[in-house]
Amino acid sequence: LANPQWGGRFAGGPADIMRDINASIGFDQRLWRQDIRGSLAHAKMLAHVGIISSDDAEAIEDGLNAIAAEIAEGRFEFSAALEDIHMNIEARLSEKIGEAGKRLHTARSRNDQVATDFRLWTRDAIDGLSAQVTSLMRALAQRANEHAATPMPGFTHLQVAQPITFGHHLLTYVEMLARDKGRLEDARARLNECPLGSAALAGTSFPIDREMTARALGFDRPTRNSLDAVSDRDFALEYLSALNLLAMHLSRLAEEIVIWCSAPFQFVTLSDAFTTGSSIMPQKRNPDAAELIRAKIGRISGDYLSLLMVMKGLPLAYAKDSQEDKEPVFDATEAATLSLAAMEGMIRDLKAAPETMRRFAAAGFSTATDLADWLVRALKLPFRTAHHITGQLVSLAERKKVDLAELSLAEMQEVAPEIHEGVYGVLTVESSLASRRSFGGTAPDNVAREAQRWCDILGEE
Ligand code: ARG
Repeated sequence: LANPQWGGRFAGGPADIMRDINASIGFDQRLWRQDIRGSLAHAKMLAHVGIISSDDAEAIEDGLNAIAAEIAEGRFEFSAALEDIHMNIEARLSEKIGEAGKRLHTARSRNDQVATDFRLWTRDAIDGLSAQVTSLMRALAQRANEHAATPMPGFTHLQVAQPITFGHHLLTYVEMLARDKGRLEDARARLNECPLGSAALAGTSFPIDREMTARALGFDRPTRNSLDAVSDRDFALEYLSALNLLAMHLSRLAEEIVIWCSAPFQFVTLSDAFTTGSSIMPQKRNPDAAELIRAKIGRISGDYLSLLMVMKGLPLAYAKDSQEDKEPVFDATEAATLSLAAMEGMIRDLKAAPETMRRFAAAGFSTATDLADWLVRALKLPFRTAHHITGQLVSLAERKKVDLAELSLAEMQEVAPEIHEGVYGVLTVESSLASRRSFGGTAPDNVAREAQRWCDILGEE
C-alpha cells in the first residue's frame, strides 16, 4: 500500500528493502519530545495568524498531548511503514482527531521540522552534558582542595621531572573541562536559531510568524535563509567536535588513573565499587571504567567523522543523506554522558597514597632544578653554568647511589668550591614545592587558593 502521508501520486507501496533502508523510526523516535514540542508551537502560531481555526489548534494540542502520554507510557506503536517519528506522530494525530490533525502540516515540511527537532534535541543534550561537566569539575576541585599540599612527582616524558602537588594535578583537569564547557556553550549559542517555517527549502506562501515559533521554542531568533536552515548540520558537527575535545581530555585523565592504579605506581586505589575482577586471575583488581572512558574517544571521534563525511559535498538543500545525521550524535552523546558520570564516580571514589607519591616525588633527583636555581640565587652564577654544575652533582650522586641531599658538603665542593651549607635548604620535596609561588605554580598555598576559588565558582551542588 502507498504511504498514507504522501502516497497520493503512488499506485504501489515500497519494496521491503526500500522500506528498510528508508525508515529512521528505529532511532529517530528519540526525537519525540522535541517533535511534539515543535508541533505544538507550530499549531499555536497557525491559529494565531488565522491559517487554522482556534478550535482546530485546540484539538491538535489535546491530541498531541495525548500522544505524548502514549509514547511516555510505552503505549504508542511505532510503524516502519510511516518512516520516521514525524509521520508516526502526525498519522496518529489524524487517527485520533480527524480533519484538524490533517491541517497541522500546513506551511511546514519534514525538512524544517526535522532540522528544528534535531536542534532542540542537541540543545537539550548540551544542557545535560554541560551540567555533568560542572559536576565533574566540582568533584575534582573538592579533591584538589583536600590534596592541595600532597606531594607527587610531576612528569615530563613520563620521567620524574619536579615535585608538584596532587591538588595541582587535579586542577589541571578542571581548567581543561572549563574550556570544554565553554565550547559546548559556544556551540549552543550558535545553534540556537529556529529553522521552523523554512518549509521544504524555499519558505512558504502562508503568512506565518516565524518570530513567534522561534520564541515559543526558546530559540533566540529564526534562521535567516530557508535553504541554509534545512540543509545545515554544522551545529551538530560543532557539538560533536566539542565532544571530541572533551573525550580527549577524559581519556588523558582515564589513562593517568590506569597508570596510578598499576602495581609499579600505586599512587591511588579505587574501591570495589570502581574495579572489576578477572575470571582467571583471582588477585586482579582492574580499573575497567577508566579503560572504557579512555576508549570512548574512539567512537566519539568516529561519530564526528561519520557525520562530516555524510555532509561533505552534499548539494543544497535537503537530501536523504541528512537522515544519517542522528545516530552519530545520539551515540556520541550517550558515550559522553556515561564517561562523565563514571569519571565523576571514580574521582570521588579514589583514595590517594600520599607516602608513595611523596617517595616518588623525591626520586630521580627531582629537586635538581631547585639546586640549579639556588646556585643562581645564592652564588650569582649564570643559569647555564648552574645547570652544568648541577648536572655534575647529579652524576656524582648517581655514581654514589645517593640522593642529592645525601651528598656531603665536601663532595659538593669538589664540583663547585663556593657551595655552602645553605644548599641543603632547597633539596627537599617540601622546600621545592613551597618555592613554586609564581602565578599558576604548584606551591601548596597557591593550589589551596585555586582549589577554593574553583569550589566557590562551582558552588555546592
Ligand atoms: N526522516 C527524515 C530525516 O531525518 C525527515 C525528513 C524527510 N524529508 C524528506 N523530504 N524526505 O531527515
